[in-house]
Amino acid sequence: MATIEHPVCLRPGDSSDLDAVMKVMTEAFGDRYGEAWTRSQCAGILPMLGVSLVVAREGENIVGFSLSRSVADESELLLLAVLPSRHREGIGGLLLDNFVERSRSAGVTRVHLEVRDGNPAIEMYRTAGFRPVGRRRNYYHAPDGRRFDALTFAQDVFS
Ligand SMILES: CC(C)(COP(=O)(O)OP(=O)(O)OC[C@H]1O[C@@H](n2cnc3c(N)ncnc32)[C@H](O)[C@@H]1OP(=O)(O)O)[C@@H](O)C(=O)NCCC(=O)NCCS
Repeated sequence: MATIEHPVCLRPGDSSDLDAVMKVMTEAFGDRYGEAWTRSQCAGILPMLGVSLVVAREGENIVGFSLSRSVADESELLLLAVLPSRHREGIGGLLLDNFVERSRSAGVTRVHLEVRDGNPAIEMYRTAGFRPVGRRRNYYHAPDGRRFDALTFAQDVFS
């Protein structure tokens, strides 16, 4: 059977992608829940050992990204975002699968992530095989003073 290639392709990103990444970050997360990172947080973590930025590109446009970090045999998905106008086209799933596969190939045995309790992305993580393993109370600080719990999800991966 012929396979249909996704029009979006993934490539490693670097600090030269930060403008585009911040545009996706701002549009995707908004400022309601305090989930988005600042540009200086992103710029600060990018040069660190084990940190990977992957961008989803369509032509010259960046439509989504993932940011992750590997330490020893564990990897953490720090951020995953797609432009709202491009949601539910499979781009987030591509980035998530890429994160898990890169981790597996690097010999990682466990992948994990934190997500705001109530974020619809939880459905995607559950479908991808992640299971809840913990809760951090009042982890996210919204600009209006509200606090939101983070849920920790994890998945064992085997090469
Ligand atoms: C989470 C996010 C990255 C998903 O990106 P996406 O490109 O829309 O995801 P996909 O199209 O690959 O979705 C894959 C599957 O995940 C599930 N899913 C994704 N978004 C969902 C939602 N809002 N509600 C319920 N299920 C959802 C569905 O099962 C979906 O498959 P389907 O469309 O065939 O039903 C995107 O919604 C986003 O940028 N959100 C804002 C940022 C954020 O909260 N990131 C996660 C925390 S770091």
